[in-house]
Amino acid sequence: MNYYIIGFMGSGKSTFGKELSEALGYSFIDTDTMIIEKEGRGIPDIFEEEGEEEFRNIESEVLRSTAKLENTVIATGGGAPCYKDNLAWMKAHGQLVYLKLFEGELEKRLKADKEERPMLKDVSEEDLPGYIYETLRQRAAYYHQADFVIDPLNMDARTLAEVLKEQQA
Ligand code: S3P
Repeated sequence: MNYYIIGFMGSGKSTFGKELSEALGYSFIDTDTMIIEKEGRGIPDIFEEEGEEEFRNIESEVLRSTAKLENTVIATGGGAPCYKDNLAWMKAHGQLVYLKLFEGELEKRLKADKEERPMLKDVSEEDLPGYIYETLRQRAAYYHQADFVIDPLNMDARTLAEVLKEQQA
């Protein structure tokens, strides 16, 4: 079984995913890191040099390369489930965990490291709440198709691991 962690930028997918993998005794991988390794350059550089569309092609390809993995928790980029049939593909290859955070918490977290994120490059701090609200509105229908919807402020990775183990038994 593989688990795909999905959710908005800043929802803590990598941290939560890593903790979940440890609690399950699984491997952990992050698709953004796989993209950086494959391309030999950072995500902002890919956006700048090739544009978002090419980034989505690379992301989709990298995601599909996880089919060969077993017993792995895979943290994905915030846009991954919303493009190119990636959601249906992930659902066919594992179970999905959506880390659902409310807008105010996302804003607080994203304000702190806005600079590293190409999607937020042209969004001023003033416009950030509106951007989060609107983008989350567009993406929510994808995110909510996850098998598990978790509030990471109220459920830690160890507790979720227990639920998942019980479900597997
Ligand atoms: C993106 C989220 C990023 C990264 C890219 C695009 C998005 O990942 O894949 O910058 O469209 O939401 P994180 O969610 O890990 O920040």
